[in-house]
Amino acid sequence: MRHVSVPVPPGEGRSYPITIGSDLLGAVCARLQEMQPGRRLFVVTDANVAGAGHLEALSAGQAVERFVIDPPGETSKHWGTVGAILEAMEAACLGRDTLVVGLGGGTVGDIAGFVAAVFKRGVPVAHVPTTTVAQADSAIGGKTGVDSTWSKNAFGAFWHPVGVFVDVTTPATLDEVQYRSGLVESVKHALIADAEYFAFLEENVGALLSREPAVLEELAWRNCRIKAEVVAEDPTEKNRRRVLNYGHTVGHAVESASGYGLLHGQAVAVGLLAAAWIEEALGWGGGQRVERIAGLLETLGMPLSIPGDQTVEALMAIMQRDKKALGGRPQFVLLEAIGRVLCREGQWAQPVAPEVVEAALKRLGAK
Ligand SMILES: NC(=O)c1ccc[n+]([C@@H]2O[C@H](COP(=O)([O-])OP(=O)(O)OC[C@H]3O[C@@H](n4cnc5c(N)ncnc54)[C@H](O)[C@@H]3O)[C@@H](O)[C@H]2O)c1
Ligand SMILES: [Zn+2]
Repeated sequence: MRHVSVPVPPGEGRSYPITIGSDLLGAVCARLQEMQPGRRLFVVTDANVAGAGHLEALSAGQAVERFVIDPPGETSKHWGTVGAILEAMEAACLGRDTLVVGLGGGTVGDIAGFVAAVFKRGVPVAHVPTTTVAQADSAIGGKTGVDSTWSKNAFGAFWHPVGVFVDVTTPATLDEVQYRSGLVESVKHALIADAEYFAFLEENVGALLSREPAVLEELAWRNCRIKAEVVAEDPTEKNRRRVLNYGHTVGHAVESASGYGLLHGQAVAVGLLAAAWIEEALGWGGGQRVERIAGLLETLGMPLSIPGDQTVEALMAIMQRDKKALGGRPQFVLLEAIGRVLCREGQWAQPVAPEVVEAALKRLGAK
């Protein structure tokens, strides 16, 4: 079992533990009772996670108050679900002494965190992530929220957890495509922060695809440390936290242009390659970087090109509207080497000439 401590917000003296290991679920509730004595636990999960037996494992034979989101997945990540959960908590006479436990993927975590942030003006939340996305990314960092009819994550709050429990055996029951595409955030972490981690992923990709808990534990540990370190320095995304957006400028555009037919990780895989081609064009490439990234992503079964019907023009238009664009110019996080982000004049994201971006999109097959 491994432990990572995340200071948050920096300077306020509070930190929370991340516990990583195998078959942890049965011990989570008891551990939370020790950490937050006297609190009533309220578990938020979804029908797939419960159906896979993880809610039963978490309850460890005890009666646990719960809300099971159904249908599971992004379609339920809206205001109505938040309202239904809050009303159910009121109906169960829960009070300020509640501790919300989010058991599931990023959808459940984002909803559970948001519910905790607004219930009785804020009660603590703990995350028990069960997907490769949630274990690498969404359970850490304090971002919570839901989608509007118009855009993703339109309503939300920063609400940091009191603890995170990563049981690396839980992704064993995850759908294959979801499992693989969630690993792309780990590739991103390695690229922005740790060349040795990237080499580890290349060497262990077979074990990773077989979901070996020992390898998943190593990944979770490295991901948590990288994300925690970046977030601690910039908890509300003023500057350095933007490095976590590596590969996401093009990734988000490709995801959106696909009408969300591509999974986030699949779109970000293409975005990572676009960033690598841009770096190459600007003279920051070298060391077989594009080939290495493409090789790893291909083994993970990710798409290496932009779906045939997407045009350069449409993708550029989406990027100009990106909420992180400045004056209509998309900003790109770029690497100077694997494991090292380019920082110019204190800025972690750079404007890139449209022709360079367009050329990268064309290389990846956009019309
Ligand atoms: N807060 C953040 O910082 C942050 C970061 C990244 C992503 N996100 C959000 O996370 C969401 C995507 O995360 P996700 O892919 O984990 O989504 P998800 O929670 O929708 O999970 C994907 C699918 O797998 C199922 N599932 C989850 N765990 C399972 C398990 N162990 N066994 C079987 N089935 C299981 C779910 O029911 C769902 O159908 C998006 O809404 C995204 O916006 C948030
Ligand atoms: Zn992402």
